Amino acid sequence: MSGRGAADVAFIGCGRIARATVPGLVSAGYPAGSLRGVSGTGAGARALSQEYGTLFAASPDEAVHGARLVVIATHPHETEAVLRDLADRVGPEHVLVSLVASWRTEAVAAAIPGVPVVRAVPNVAVALRTGTTVLSRGPEATRGNLAEVETLFGRLGQVAVAEEDSLEAVSAVSGAGPALIAYFAEALAVAGVDHGLDADTASLLAAQAVRGTGALLERTDSPRTVIESVRSPGGMTAAALDMLQDRGVAEAARAATAAAIRLSYQRMATGH
Ligand SMILES: NC(=O)c1ccc[n+]([C@@H]2O[C@H](COP(=O)([O-])OP(=O)(O)OC[C@H]3O[C@@H](n4cnc5c(N)ncnc54)[C@H](OP(=O)(O)O)[C@@H]3O)[C@@H](O)[C@H]2O)c1
Repeated sequence: MSGRGAADVAFIGCGRIARATVPGLVSAGYPAGSLRGVSGTGAGARALSQEYGTLFAASPDEAVHGARLVVIATHPHETEAVLRDLADRVGPEHVLVSLVASWRTEAVAAAIPGVPVVRAVPNVAVALRTGTTVLSRGPEATRGNLAEVETLFGRLGQVAVAEEDSLEAVSAVSGAGPALIAYFAEALAVAGVDHGLDADTASLLAAQAVRGTGALLERTDSPRTVIESVRSPGGMTAAALDMLQDRGVAEAARAATAAAIRLSYQRMATGH
């Protein structure tokens, strides 16, 4: 993919999700010189610049000057101050893209009036351009603004637009999803070691199982199809699945997701 027509993008906050987004963009052919970052202590922005050749901005002013898209990638509790600081520096010539958890699109828009806002929930797989990003358009953002953000994240995998009210669930399932799946892969690898595999082999086998399963899931209508394609009656897989059922693993996954969503609403209710 060529970098032609690539809008300048400023990252406000250069931590984990910016460090996943930037390499995805660069490997998609986005010119690193069109990307710049500013961060709280400067450490994240400096690391991003050293690793990927993005421009280091010493201040928010420097970051947003000449940028079209301004991506906010800070923690929920840091974001109020960040938006206050940006309010006089951004205008209708920008599109503000908020990756911040627990901030509804209209709350970001209210904090920064006159600026189009699009909320985006990506996941870390954007680093390998196999991510999923779900978008919600704020009150002042046009369809054209939304399309600009779709184009940016479209370079990094799948993009969908969803109702704002669904985005806490989207964050828990899709944003946090890679961590939850990796948690299970880690547990599977530890189990392999318990039964005599060396740690590297066990990790590789677990990772390959996740990778293969992801590819199969994409081609089937339901995870159940994959489960049933492995489970033969009375076999080893059936014994293992019965134990997961007995130990309430599916219930634990539901409780984990509910905990994430509950935290997000609590943060909103208490002003983050
Ligand atoms: N990680 C994910 O997979 C993911 C996915 C979707 C959404 N998100 C959301 O993205 C946001 C950031 O998450 P993260 O995991 O990337 O966090 P993180 O790794 O902790 O990074 C936070 C970044 O914010 C910077 N920062 C702090 N105060 C700032 C300020 N006043 N001005 C500018 N930058 C400031 C920090 O600067 P220094 O580098 O200088 O310390 C750091 O670079 C969160 O709201 C999170 O929910 C994350």
